[in-house]
Amino acid sequence: MHRVDVASAQGDYAVLVGEGLLDRLPSILADEGLAAPSVVVSNETVGPLYGRRLAAALACPPPLELADGEEYKRWPAVETTCSHWLGRGVHRSSSVLAVGGGVVTDTVGFAAAVYQRGIRWLAVPTSLLAMVDAAVGGKTGVNLEQGKNLVGAFWPPRLVAVDVGTLATLEERELRAGLVELVKAAWIGDHDLLALVPRRVARYADLSPAGWCAAVVGAVRVKAEVVAADEREAGRRKALNLGHTLGHALEAATGYTHLLHGEAVAWGTVAVARLAAQRGLLSQAAAARLEGVLRSLGPLPGIDGVSPERVLDHLARDKKLDDQGVAWVLPTDDGVVLDQRVGAEEARRVLLELQTG
Ligand SMILES: NC(=O)c1ccc[n+]([C@@H]2O[C@H](COP(=O)([O-])OP(=O)(O)OC[C@H]3O[C@@H](n4cnc5c(N)ncnc54)[C@H](O)[C@@H]3O)[C@@H](O)[C@H]2O)c1
Ligand SMILES: [Zn+2]
Repeated sequence: MHRVDVASAQGDYAVLVGEGLLDRLPSILADEGLAAPSVVVSNETVGPLYGRRLAAALACPPPLELADGEEYKRWPAVETTCSHWLGRGVHRSSSVLAVGGGVVTDTVGFAAAVYQRGIRWLAVPTSLLAMVDAAVGGKTGVNLEQGKNLVGAFWPPRLVAVDVGTLATLEERELRAGLVELVKAAWIGDHDLLALVPRRVARYADLSPAGWCAAVVGAVRVKAEVVAADEREAGRRKALNLGHTLGHALEAATGYTHLLHGEAVAWGTVAVARLAAQRGLLSQAAAARLEGVLRSLGPLPGIDGVSPERVLDHLARDKKLDDQGVAWVLPTDDGVVLDQRVGAEEARRVLLELQTG
């Protein structure tokens, strides 16, 4: 079992990574000096796969199974969760366990932040994206009608336990989408990790458990380093938005149905690689390497039919917008550079370039 410690102003916590770790969770919690959770929250997909088993092993009642989907990452899910906890007698010194992808960990973490003004929570992320990104770093929250993650709290879990074996049931597209965030982490903080990113992976079995563990641990280390340096996103943490400015705009412009988040970020990262190369911030060789790794993950849904005007509209509404425009993160040969202003014309040009191949 691997261990990455994450420093946080609200209390340090460990991310444990291994295969088959779920079956050992009760003894792992005891070893970590953590009380067993009183309640497990999962969703209707992951609950039957892992949540129920875990709840039984931890002597918890059957898990609350939230509706599955980004569209349910909203206030009603927080209310359902808190009401469920109240009904189960969860109190201020209890802890709760979230088992699922990023939607579950974001929602449950946020509910834990506000339930009785904050209770302890533990995370068992089961999607690759949640393992390498969503469950680590303390950001929790839900979406509003107007946009994603518009309400939330910094409320880190007490422990993140990653069992890479759960990736065996994750759909191929979801697996690849998670790999994009792994590439992002590698580019930001550890170029050696690029060599560990599996290429053309269609299923969990295409890579050894040790290979998955090494890749996940590498990405978690980068995220841990970044959030330890800047937990509340005053500077360094913005690096994690590599590929996300245009990515978010593409997701929004296509109604959140055409592209998975990771797929949109892959397009967004290819775009900033080209943009940075055109600006002389990134060598042609490095740009080709970054684009090459992303393309080697497998085909992406096309964006040819996407209206550039709609994308630009969404860019103009970006959460990271201030009076000088949207601040982009651009890749450099050995990492990233923050707060780069990209005008609408430049964004349109690179988008058209992607659409024409
Ligand atoms: N808090 C953060 O710092 C942070 C960072 C990145 C992303 N996020 C958030 O994470 C969310 C995306 O996370 P995601 O990609 O995990 O999406 P998700 O939670 O919707 O999971 C994707 C799908 O896979 C299913 N699933 C999860 N694990 C599975 C498994 N082991 N086997 C079978 N199916 C499984 C889920 O039920 C869902 O249908 C977004 O809401 C995003 O905003 C948060
Ligand atoms: Zn992301």
